[in-house]
Amino acid sequence: MNSNIVVAIDGYSSCGKSTLAKALAKKLHFIYIDSGSMYRAVTLYLQRQKVDISNEQLVSEALKNIHLNFHSRDYQTHITLNEEEVSDEIRNMAVSEMVSDVSAIKAVRREMVKQQQRMGRSKNIVMDGRDIGTTVFPNAQVKIFMTADPKIRAERRFKELNATEEKITLEEVFDNLAHRDFQDTTRKESPLIRAEDAIILDNTDLTEEEQLQFALENINPLLRNR
Ligand code: DC
Repeated sequence: MNSNIVVAIDGYSSCGKSTLAKALAKKLHFIYIDSGSMYRAVTLYLQRQKVDISNEQLVSEALKNIHLNFHSRDYQTHITLNEEEVSDEIRNMAVSEMVSDVSAIKAVRREMVKQQQRMGRSKNIVMDGRDIGTTVFPNAQVKIFMTADPKIRAERRFKELNATEEKITLEEVFDNLAHRDFQDTTRKESPLIRAEDAIILDNTDLTEEEQLQFALENINPLLRNR
């Protein structure tokens, strides 16, 4: 087994995965990788290029022209799509509405998983997503599966979107999340499912600090026993 450590965090949309993952990475001095942002950046590219996503051949061709990179600044991870910083744009509603369909495409998943595995080959990382503990890193030393009440998740996401002044109602956000949950858990390719050896973290009533403590309590013994 490799000597580097992988912390895999999976769970539903807007469950606070990235908040916890970032806090853990900062605390443990690991690299944080937001795998969802990769699917979002691919979606943005396909939208801009008006690629017909029902045609897998066209999508496969387009993937060859997509180059994604991460870089850190002020403890924030930024993603570039063909050298252009797209960290904000990939969060807009148009991308959110299409990203589940794009992430269900076999060719897209195959390419993203390959890139993600490469990133975790030699470095200590915290990666969040839907299939990190099951498909990307089934041998990850630490796996956390996050869940929370759907209403609370929609409220959290609504506040975030309002902060960026996007005109949207709470109901629309709720519906978008419900749709993505359905798509993510029922798709054929790597559906969202808890790995058998993942620790469950329901954060409906937990503060960010409490979540971090919970995760560290589960991670520290594993790190000590290495
Ligand atoms: O975490 P997020 O909401 O930014 O993810 C965006 C979409 O990408 C989400 O609908 C599911 C998909 N996704 C995925 O299929 N596999 C991952 N490892 C990460 C995200």
